[in-house]
Amino acid sequence: MYLNIAVLGGDGIGPEVMAQSVKCLQAIEHNFGHTFSFTKADIGAVAIKKTGEPLPEKTLKICKNSDAILFGAIGTPEYDQNPESKIWPEQGLFKLREELNLFANIRPVKVFPALAKLSPLNKKNILDTDLVIYRELTGGIYFGNKKVSDDQTKALDTCEYSEKEISRIAHLAFKAAKSRRKKLTLVDKANILETSRLWRRVVSNIATSYPEVTLNCMFMDNAAVNMILHPNEFDVILADNMFGDILSDQGSAISGSVGLLPSSSVGLGHAMFEPIHGSYPQAKGKNIANPIASILSVAMLLQHFDLEEEANAVITAVLKSFSKKIVTPDILGSSKYGTDYVGDFIANNITDDTDDLNINDENIGLGKSTII
Ligand code: IPM
Ligand code: MG
Repeated sequence: MYLNIAVLGGDGIGPEVMAQSVKCLQAIEHNFGHTFSFTKADIGAVAIKKTGEPLPEKTLKICKNSDAILFGAIGTPEYDQNPESKIWPEQGLFKLREELNLFANIRPVKVFPALAKLSPLNKKNILDTDLVIYRELTGGIYFGNKKVSDDQTKALDTCEYSEKEISRIAHLAFKAAKSRRKKLTLVDKANILETSRLWRRVVSNIATSYPEVTLNCMFMDNAAVNMILHPNEFDVILADNMFGDILSDQGSAISGSVGLLPSSSVGLGHAMFEPIHGSYPQAKGKNIANPIASILSVAMLLQHFDLEEEANAVITAVLKSFSKKIVTPDILGSSKYGTDYVGDFIANNITDDTDDLNINDENIGLGKSTII
């Protein structure tokens, strides 16, 4: 298969983790006889510095012409701490989501048995956690009308949803539930928000077309508690933009590290794959960032193109890195392995899954690639 992949490293640790994902895709290319072309483009603070824009025209064009986009991370403290700024990096990501109509953000949450002890939660309730969040990504309070009063003492963000925006993602979530454990939980605040009441009405109507799926509606505050107490009881969670954002970060804590969870964003024709974590600016350039979320996003990319065997090769290599404890320090405090090393190990194992004797222990240390 030929795939033209846009590579948007972005800010902070984005480019470092992305480099590991590209290595893994190259290993897949080599092993399975595909051809992938990679086109790098700027987004976020890096792009603002070069062009004055968080999403330059050139980047948007590259993304529109690509089969898939690999995205790293976005945001820097410089802008976070400057609420006066009229331009900030995250605008690049929003514009990209909007321009490419990436309305469905799919975020699987799994607990990997080898890493379960990392989770702050009761092991018996988390071990078989396997849920997926369908987060609406191009509407709601993120995109509604925004205003600040002239004297800067009042601000307004509008949350708006149309039936069409709700039903297109609801259908995707119901289809996912139908092929999984047949449970769909709609998370909302229908006891207070009009938009939530619209979500309930639209989603309940759609439920009649999926009789095999059980729909359960849950208030966001209650869902936050239940996801911590019994994450293993959820199957597919459907939520608006803001609630989905919050729940997916909470999901990453269940799995033990925010550096583990991948995501895909799909719409009409375009598809983007990115870790759910942020840009972790404190770790930038230190070679300590966990590349797993980004590498598992590669697996989601391959699944998107029905390359199941290839996706499994990536997942198997990731699981092997866990069992061999070839992990970054967020997973194992005493680990001496860096981002690059973990990426090399996984890419190497995609190419040859019997090959784990090629680790040169003498070179092990942060910043050094030790695959020989
Ligand atoms: C995410 C992130 C973004 C969001 C930030 C970086 C603006 O948290 O993709 O979950 O809120 O959508
Ligand atoms: Mg988030």
